[in-house]
Amino acid sequence: MMTASLSPTSGSMTALCFTEPGSPDVLHCESLPIPQPGRGEVLVRVLAAGVNRPDLMQRAGLYPPPPGANPRLGLEIAGEVVACGAPLEGVRMPEPGSRVCALTNGGGYAEYCLAPAGQCLPWPEGFDAVQAAALPETFFTVWSNLFMPKPVAAGERVLIHGGSSGIGITAIQLVRAFGGIPYVTAGSAEKCALCEKLGAIAINYREEDFATRLRELTDNTGVNLILDMIGGAYFDRNLKSLSVGGRLVIIALQGGAKAEQADLARIMTRRLVVTGSTLRPQDSAAKALIARQLYEQVWPLLSSGAISPLIDAILPFSAAAQAHRMMEDGTHLGRIILVPDAKA
Ligand SMILES: NC(=O)c1ccc[n+]([C@@H]2O[C@H](COP(=O)([O-])OP(=O)(O)OC[C@H]3O[C@@H](n4cnc5c(N)ncnc54)[C@H](OP(=O)(O)O)[C@@H]3O)[C@@H](O)[C@H]2O)c1
Repeated sequence: MMTASLSPTSGSMTALCFTEPGSPDVLHCESLPIPQPGRGEVLVRVLAAGVNRPDLMQRAGLYPPPPGANPRLGLEIAGEVVACGAPLEGVRMPEPGSRVCALTNGGGYAEYCLAPAGQCLPWPEGFDAVQAAALPETFFTVWSNLFMPKPVAAGERVLIHGGSSGIGITAIQLVRAFGGIPYVTAGSAEKCALCEKLGAIAINYREEDFATRLRELTDNTGVNLILDMIGGAYFDRNLKSLSVGGRLVIIALQGGAKAEQADLARIMTRRLVVTGSTLRPQDSAAKALIARQLYEQVWPLLSSGAISPLIDAILPFSAAAQAHRMMEDGTHLGRIILVPDAKA
């Protein structure tokens, strides 16, 4: 039962859909009923939505949504709260009319989207909808994987694979902001230059072996922490790149899920920790805890301008297929954001 609303929220909306998995061309607009918020949820009029690689994988049929999730694309949005469901004990409900960005449970590529209230955050000061929409997916992912188990300490060396990706840029900025030293891999001189401008030490993985170069750069000691999105193809070299007590966090498997040639002795002799996670299947309580920590520890950095998302392209929802192609081509530097058509 809805308890508060700002404007009439019944009727239909336009949403990006796909019937069968496939190429970006399977994406098309459909008219759907505007969803109604349940207990602990808010309905957001979407002003911008982020495009993330997990969207591409889901569209291609490689990353099915977890049970109970909205099966449509769009994991993060920014917009205006237009209706609130019944309150949920222990969860602060945003007021109708407030501007929020949210980690959704799917369905962000649409004019309206539901979000659990605990997964909503206010726009940082001075932010517009496009910048706010670029925050949730990468900040929730990087914070929960790199900082929640054990905060990155000043002087710690952190290797971030895919430094120029949305995830990579967020990781560089957060590691730097908390006093760590970011090292990255990236696949072109232009991408390396961008990462260096952000304060990272970059290795072009297409031109040299990253593990060999990292050993040179760290006087043979390696790094304390690795954020990895490659998996199998890098597993042995990641183990080789960690110093004693180091931690490897795997968040994607772009280089495969199998690592048959890895030397596991390195885990024992250097007392390494190998871990990983996916954000989407975690429950709302876990996501709300991440949101609270981000609000306390990271939102002030965004509001002060100490860190900010890097936007590569802004496209209308009707060009979502083009946005997916751009990300698949891999030429983007930072985030690709969709906005309602009239605003593009
Ligand atoms: N576990 C989770 O909860 C979670 C959540 C969000 C995202 N992710 C994952 O995080 C990754 C980044 O996501 P995104 O949305 O930021 O996508 P993105 O911008 O498309 O980033 C993909 C990155 O992978 C890099 N890459 C590909 N092969 C590489 C290699 N061999 N060595 C080093 N880098 C390589 C690409 O760099 P080059 O172009 O330089 O090759 C590119 O920067 C994706 O794999 C995504 O699935 C995981």
